[in-house]
Amino acid sequence: CGIVGYVGQKNAYDVVIESLKKLEYRGYDSSGVALKTDEGIFIAKKKGRISELEKDFPSVPSSNMGIAHTRWATHGAPKDENAHPHTDCTGTIAVVHNGIIENYRELKAYLAERGHKFTSETDTEVVAHLLEEFYQGDLFTTLLKILPLLKGAFALAIISQKEDRILAVRQDSPLVLGLGRGENFLASDIPALLSHTREFVIMENGQIADIRAEHVELYDFEGNAIPIKITKVDWDEKQAEKGGYDHFMIKEIMEQDEAIRSTLLGRVDRGRVRLDELEALQEELKNAERIYITACGTAYHAGMVGAYLLRHVAGLDVEIEVASEFRYAKHHWRENSVGLVISQSGETADTLQALRMMKADGIPVIAVVNVVGSSVYREADASLLTQAGPEIAVASTKAYSTQLVVLYLFALYMAKLKGLLTQEEEQNILEDLWSIPEKVKQVLSNAESVRRIAQDTYKANDIFFIGRQLDYMLALEGSLKLKEISYIHSEAFPAGELKHGPLALVTADTPTLAILMQEDVLEKTLSNVSEVKARQGDVFVLGFERDRKRLEDIGRWSFFVPDTLPLLAPLVGIPVLQLFAYYNAVLRGTDVDKPRNLAKSVTVE
Ligand code: G6P
Repeated sequence: CGIVGYVGQKNAYDVVIESLKKLEYRGYDSSGVALKTDEGIFIAKKKGRISELEKDFPSVPSSNMGIAHTRWATHGAPKDENAHPHTDCTGTIAVVHNGIIENYRELKAYLAERGHKFTSETDTEVVAHLLEEFYQGDLFTTLLKILPLLKGAFALAIISQKEDRILAVRQDSPLVLGLGRGENFLASDIPALLSHTREFVIMENGQIADIRAEHVELYDFEGNAIPIKITKVDWDEKQAEKGGYDHFMIKEIMEQDEAIRSTLLGRVDRGRVRLDELEALQEELKNAERIYITACGTAYHAGMVGAYLLRHVAGLDVEIEVASEFRYAKHHWRENSVGLVISQSGETADTLQALRMMKADGIPVIAVVNVVGSSVYREADASLLTQAGPEIAVASTKAYSTQLVVLYLFALYMAKLKGLLTQEEEQNILEDLWSIPEKVKQVLSNAESVRRIAQDTYKANDIFFIGRQLDYMLALEGSLKLKEISYIHSEAFPAGELKHGPLALVTADTPTLAILMQEDVLEKTLSNVSEVKARQGDVFVLGFERDRKRLEDIGRWSFFVPDTLPLLAPLVGIPVLQLFAYYNAVLRGTDVDKPRNLAKSVTVE
């Protein structure tokens, strides 16, 4: 979701709408504005893109202060009532929110008991009512009282009819303040405000901003003032829409820690997996013996990891096939089967047809999907959303890593239903899963070392990837990324298959990227690395930090990622492979975001 705020002398509606349009990439299923006017808070909100809102509200009261929002639905389907801003019962407090209030159900029950009436299905609305409940004449002190009650990730912007300021809160969802003369701004990112200012304050987690026309102040959640640090920005417009990066792809690669965290939020409750979306399918899932997985491209590679997990962790029988084959195959469906389709866009023609085929044959289908309201989302019996936010680069990156997160959670959920997972095991895996965003961030902060490796490899005509088990599945995705954006010919092989053919192609000019993260097969893959080296092939080793000593001298290049359970290796490994593909492509000067002959969403068969 995207957030904007303005307080100053100009017409607030014009300012916030203009900036909001630049945030539409963060979500576009509904939008809305709250303006402080002499007659009260004026709210305009509407399902659909911002242009729909403008059509519906051709004129609005004049105002010098307002907040606005463009939404990417998480709780509550895209419709007018669920669009932000949300207000309290009296309509004097308005709130927009990005993120998830994890404990909103409990808060809602508490507030309902105290007589609050809710008009939406969102988690956000509880914030407006909580503020109303605790308000005693000052919005700031009220905010300090309610913040300890909120669990989850949030960026909030709040206005009250009674006060001339916007309060903003940042906890895990981004917010920046834009500084002007006699006016100040708020937004989810810098580019949204570049036509107004070049001076910014980047809010950190755990901060509150008090934004008035004349000045801005920062506080921590205890109400202590924090010194303000101003950042000056000199991006051109093209760079700006990419958040200062050269391409959307690298921007989206770099967003993955945040995307993974958002996908986990609300789905882990006191050390246990919680997938409320699957409640309606409880019986089918309890009885499930076989899972049919289908998807295309990168989503299919995520599905392969999912298949591994469902087999190994949940003891299920899994069949997996790309959707373009699956839909034309003759299936002798087993009883007690469940379908699982994976799609970023939710519009891929083959995936959609495969879903329809299963449904027509009476098989309940679960979708792992990124776009609320897409065809796959609407037609599946239940959808598990990947909270990646809009993905613009054709080569999928953050959608893949969030698909993996959902599949981990789903596999744990199924293992529990099947009685195959102790509470302790579940807790251990979830603890490690929670540490992934931080570890991914560490990997990303090391992007420069991957770029240096790419400097040695980008002139190659062929680059091979090898690995075993989960490492092989990760290799498939790494190889796809590389070929689709750099146009270097690349293939991934199960390491043990090298000697059955591909080894004939290995020469001093074909680098091989060996993934060595699965402890139980590591020695076996190392033998295959020796086969490559014996043919003078250069090797790039990807491993865990804990194996550094053992692996350091094996390849010509190496990269070590922070330690995790081997089961979670794909999550920490994939950013390295994405960066490798990206830098090879950049060095070759290809059109990284729009590779030749490829499209983001393939709605033809
Ligand atoms: C296209 C895109 C890929 C994507 C695939 C499946 O080929 O270029 O990045 O993985 O479609 O798309 P979906 O939206 O169903 O995940």
